[in-house]
Order: sequence, then C-alpha cells, then structure tokens
Amino acid sequence: MSMGPAVLLVAGLAWTVLTVAASEWSCVKPAEIEHGYVEHLVKYHCDPYYQLRGAGDGTYKCDENLAWVSLGAGKEAPVCEPVCGKPKNPPRQMQRIIGGLLAGKGSFPWQGRLVTRHNLTVGATLISDQWLLTTGRNVYLNHTDSATPEEIAPTLQLFLGGREQPALAIEQVVLHPNYPKAVDLALLKLKEKVFLGEEIMPICLPQKDYVQPGRVGYVSGWGRGATFAFSSMLKYVMLPVAEGEKCRQYYGARNASSWVQPLLSNDTFCVGMSELQEDTCYGDAGGAFAVQDPDDNTWYAAGILSYDKTCSASKYGVYVDVQRVLAWIKDTVAAG
Ligand SMILES: *[C@@H]1O[C@H](CO)[C@@H](O)[C@H](O)[C@H]1NC(C)=O
Ligand SMILES: *[C@@H]1O[C@H](CO)[C@@H](O)[C@H](O)[C@H]1NC(C)=O
Ligand SMILES: *[C@@H]1O[C@H](CO)[C@@H](O)[C@H](O)[C@H]1NC(C)=O
Ligand SMILES: *[C@@H]1O[C@H](CO)[C@@H](O)[C@H](O)[C@H]1NC(C)=O
Repeated sequence: MSMGPAVLLVAGLAWTVLTVAASEWSCVKPAEIEHGYVEHLVKYHCDPYYQLRGAGDGTYKCDENLAWVSLGAGKEAPVCEPVCGKPKNPPRQMQRIIGGLLAGKGSFPWQGRLVTRHNLTVGATLISDQWLLTTGRNVYLNHTDSATPEEIAPTLQLFLGGREQPALAIEQVVLHPNYPKAVDLALLKLKEKVFLGEEIMPICLPQKDYVQPGRVGYVSGWGRGATFAFSSMLKYVMLPVAEGEKCRQYYGARNASSWVQPLLSNDTFCVGMSELQEDTCYGDAGGAFAVQDPDDNTWYAAGILSYDKTCSASKYGVYVDVQRVLAWIKDTVAAG
C-alpha cells in the first residue's frame, strides 16, 4: 500500500497536508506502547504568499476521541491568510527616466489600476486579498455627485498584476463617512478574492506613525509623465514628507478660484518634490505612500495619494493619513 504524501483541497485554497498516510485519515489512535508513544500528527502548510493563523506551527494531533486537535486552534482548521508588504523584488534605483523610475516586475505588487467608465486609469492600493483603498474623487470620476456607491461599483474595472491579467469586478464601494468634506478615501471590495503571488500582494496597514517630515516614501503610478501623456508602464518616485504648516500656508495663499484645491484636514499629510523635481501627476491618485520599516523589513501604506494635480508645478502632494483612518478601514473590512 502506498504511503506517499496526501494533498487535501479545502474551499478552493490549496492546503497541503504532508506525510499523512492514507490509513491515518480516519484518525485512529495507534496502539499504546509501554514507556513510549507514537507521534500521530498532521501538519498544515500554506501556499507561498500566505501564512498560518491560529494553529501555532499548523501541527494537529489525533486525540483520544479520534479528532484532530491543535494546541492553538482546537478542532478548527487553521486559516491561511495573506502575507503583506514583502515584495519579492523591492524597488531600488534602477534605470532613471524622465519624471521617475521604471518599476521592476513585482516591485509594487499592491498597485492596482482602476479604470473608470470613461476609460481613465487611476490608482488603487491592495490591502488584503479582496479589498483596495482608493480616493473618493477617483470613484466619482465621470459620475455626478448624486450617484450612489451602488450605482458606481459596476461601472469600475480593476486590474492587478501584469498587463495580461483580466479585469476584476468590484462588488462594493464604501466611501469614508467624512468624504467629501475632510477625507478623500474609499474602500473597494472585489467580487472574488484574488490569488496572491509574486505580482499580486497586499501592502500592510501601518501600526506606527511613519508621517514625520523628511521621511521618504515610494509612490507608484501610471499617471501622466513629463510629456503629459499617460504612461503605459508603472513608474515610481521617492518623495519626502513635508512640513504640514508650510503646506497649509502654500495652499491657503493660492487663488482657489483658478486652481483645483486639495482637501486638507487633520487626516491628511503633505509630501514634497524630489531634488530632481520628480513628482506625481494626474492619474496617480489612489496609490500608496509606501514606506519600508527597517525593523521588520516590511512595507506599509502610510498614506493614499489624494491630490495628484501637482505635476512638478505645485509644491506639495496631499495624502490621506492611513493611520488616522485605520479604525474605519478595519471595521469596514471586518463587516465586509
Ligand atoms: C475603452 O478602451 C477600450 C480599450 O482601449 C476600448 O475598446 C473601448 O471602446 C473604450 N471605451 C470607451 C468608452 O472609450
Ligand atoms: C462621462 O464621460 C463621457 C465621455 O467622455 C462624457 O460624455 C460624459 O459627459 C461624462 N459624464 C460625466 C457625468 O462626467
Ligand atoms: C482669482 O482668480 C479669479 C479668476 O481667475 C480672478 O477673477 C480674481 O481676481 C483672482 N483673485 C486674486 C486675489 O488674485
Ligand atoms: C484638528 O486638530 C487641531 C489641533 O489638534 C484641533 O484644534 C482641531 O479641532 C482639529 N480639527 C478637526 C476638524 O478635528
């Protein structure tokens, strides 16, 4: 009789159970031996880009009632949850081009491409295997203010990963309760969970305050470049957090009747231009201000770009501060 490894498929996700002989599926307790024991275990493993939650190292023992039991999870099966913020090919200085750097494959696996009803491409940021953050203004592009999120959701298309990937449908749009007054933010729920891999991986939500003046973050997008043409390749720039007060004064002094003004509030922060005058531009909104935490070598979304109308002509980009809206994000996703 064959005693090779067995593979069990549960709910569409691949769970690999290693070294369980066919006879052990019935979880029969092996014979007792004097002054000794037989280890009778199954061990769950997650696919790459997922990690086990709730069952220690995933080891289950056959108990005296012939049930598989783990120390951490009891009789519940463990959960394989997405790994976030660990790109296989993190961004680094590569080929410098006008107005930013070309992103390598898998450098910003959380970058989503949101395509509106009138075919405009804007940004979105993957934060789990089913939810993205983008701006409220992005959601309302080509819709009147009276449109409801339920009406807008089916008009949006979302793309993740490489160019050849099919469009993903959006099931639900949830606006931040303070949109449009103070917080330019929306959550998008995909109809189906996406399968994660090298090119599709969420970014982690911040657990610390990364918004200090001078701190550099990475912003990626397909927005307009130096020639004002939309880019067909993902680009990124490295930009420093700016002094909030200087930014408020700058926009306060500007003639609001001749400029589209950013939404500035206690829940936003400002980011300056790079020394090379690189900047974000139309179409980049919805992308993350991604910071790498050297303590755990993980990438966090400190902000979501709201005001992308700068294009090296205005001094400051404006971002929603993700840490300040964390409770709303977590509650909305949990209620999902
Ligand atoms: C949007 O773009 C696609 C592909 O480029 C094209 O087939 C389609 O007709 C466009 N739709 C509109 C409304 O412009
Ligand atoms: C949406 O875009 C189409 C095509 O550009 C345009 O004709 C229409 O007026 C737009 N609608 C709104 C509400 O912006
Ligand atoms: C602001 O812009 C409007 C329209 O361009 C103009 O009429 C007005 O005089 C400007 N105000 C100031 C203070 O420059
Ligand atoms: C923003 O923060 C300032 C200073 O902490 C506070 O005085 C003000 O009330 C806050 N505004 C809002 C709308 O919460």
